[in-house]
Amino acid sequence: MGKEIIFSAHGICKAFGPTRALIDVDFSIYRGEVHGLIGENGSGKSTFSSIAAGAQSLDSGTFTLKGQPYSPKNMVDAQNHGIGMIVQEQGTIGSISVASNIFTGRMKENSKFGFLSMKQLNEKAQIILNNIGAGDINASLLTSSLNFEDRKIVEIARVMVADPDVLIVDETTTALAMKGRKILYNLIEKFKSENKAVIFISHDLNELIEICDRVTVLRDGRIIDTLEGDNISEDNMRRLMVGRELDGHYFRNDYICSYDDEIVLEAKQITYGPFTNLDLQLHKGEILGITGLSECGMHELGKVLFGIEKTITGSVTIPAKNVEIKNPTIAIKNRIGYLSKDRDRESIILNASIKDNIELPCMDKLKGPLGFISTKSERKLAREQIEVLQIKCRNSEQLLTELSGGNKQKVVFSKWLACDSDVLILDCATRGIDVGVKAAIYRLLEDLKSKGKSVILISEELPEMIGMSDRMLIMQNGKITAEFKRSPELKEEDIIKYMI
Ligand SMILES: Nc1ncnc2c1ncn2[C@@H]1O[C@H](COP(=O)(O)OP(=O)(O)OP(=O)(O)O)[C@@H](O)[C@H]1O
Ligand SMILES: [Mg+2]
Repeated sequence: MGKEIIFSAHGICKAFGPTRALIDVDFSIYRGEVHGLIGENGSGKSTFSSIAAGAQSLDSGTFTLKGQPYSPKNMVDAQNHGIGMIVQEQGTIGSISVASNIFTGRMKENSKFGFLSMKQLNEKAQIILNNIGAGDINASLLTSSLNFEDRKIVEIARVMVADPDVLIVDETTTALAMKGRKILYNLIEKFKSENKAVIFISHDLNELIEICDRVTVLRDGRIIDTLEGDNISEDNMRRLMVGRELDGHYFRNDYICSYDDEIVLEAKQITYGPFTNLDLQLHKGEILGITGLSECGMHELGKVLFGIEKTITGSVTIPAKNVEIKNPTIAIKNRIGYLSKDRDRESIILNASIKDNIELPCMDKLKGPLGFISTKSERKLAREQIEVLQIKCRNSEQLLTELSGGNKQKVVFSKWLACDSDVLILDCATRGIDVGVKAAIYRLLEDLKSKGKSVILISEELPEMIGMSDRMLIMQNGKITAEFKRSPELKEEDIIKYMI
């Protein structure tokens, strides 16, 4: 018996003004298949999948779903027809309950005679959460009380409400820690075994090799090729995405742990949320990795070091200047930059332009002798950054809402580069960034280090940690359980046992 196509797209086109996001896209997926969709930042992956999931309209082209013509009116309509999507960007509302988020757009179906029983809604939502293995999340809680990762899990639950036949996962795994990834991978397995289908978008090439049956490559809005079986290799994917061989190394290729003795940031006996009485020293010219499971306290630590959250005991200081980092204003003034894991809520202004976002922390640098900011220097600064990080955009005036996920991440990065930070605290720095630009960011970090700048990398990605750090602190339950120095012998296994 031949394989049955469950969903297909024929000649899909979509433009945003002069930007041609999708050009004549043909795509198909079989029942029982996990089909990867890959491409550089801005290649059209989210545009394609959000059209398929009813979140955007198309300019031309058609879809077929389970043998029938399919043209979704909106996301709920798409779900009712059998296509559900976990979107790339944060998609929950903080001010309502978890259950209300899970049943967004479906309140009417859940009410009787115009009355909605919150109790029943909570119970139903809790069952869905339990079913996907997230029973530890309480459906009646306010969504804003959940952390970044649990909110992403709520989005997974929301998609499961309509029991879709085709699940689209848009760059979700990088927002999830181990617990969430397990939930997602189990779900994908379940879809396969039930003869349903998954369209899986990711920049993690190993993950794609691990879970996909086929992988389709998009470049600049066009389908380039579809890989199958042994042809799904890192080299093939990279070459097809970028359109040329990528040369040079990926992580650092030295194994020297080197930095100055000078301490540029010091935490003494700090206490906040998950951690108590923690000590930490960052040296001039050091790349310091901090890793652990997502709940270990490392994300909160990043916030305290930048002054967003206040420590209950002890202090964070720049010893040479005798300055205490009590809030982000003091941090920025002293050339400390911070990139939050929760980018859209904490690191950027979505309704402002690339230029405005980049210059925000560098106002001082842009001021002329009379204290005015010249438009010329503003533009120049933004243009330089767009070039350095290959930000895909029309020009520096384009709004951040219009950029692809990875390109937004590049803007946050460049805003701290542009203002010449001495210390960068990067929480999940390369989230959603494609392989080519990731390599460019690693080179940039090496370059910053060689100029005597210091970097704190907070991440669960052990290859990145081992590949880039001079020194690594491992955290578990709010405590530093181990410290490793850069070395060619260091393996992931050595680290993992101090994490769990
Ligand atoms: N609302 C919009 N207005 C204008 N341009 C848009 C809009 N949405 C997307 N684009 C543009 O369409 C192109 C494709 O973007 P898309 O988000 O599909 O990329 P992507 O492949 O998902 O990238 P990433 O890996 O960074 O998530 C980009 O050039 C992007 O700037
Ligand atoms: Mg995208």
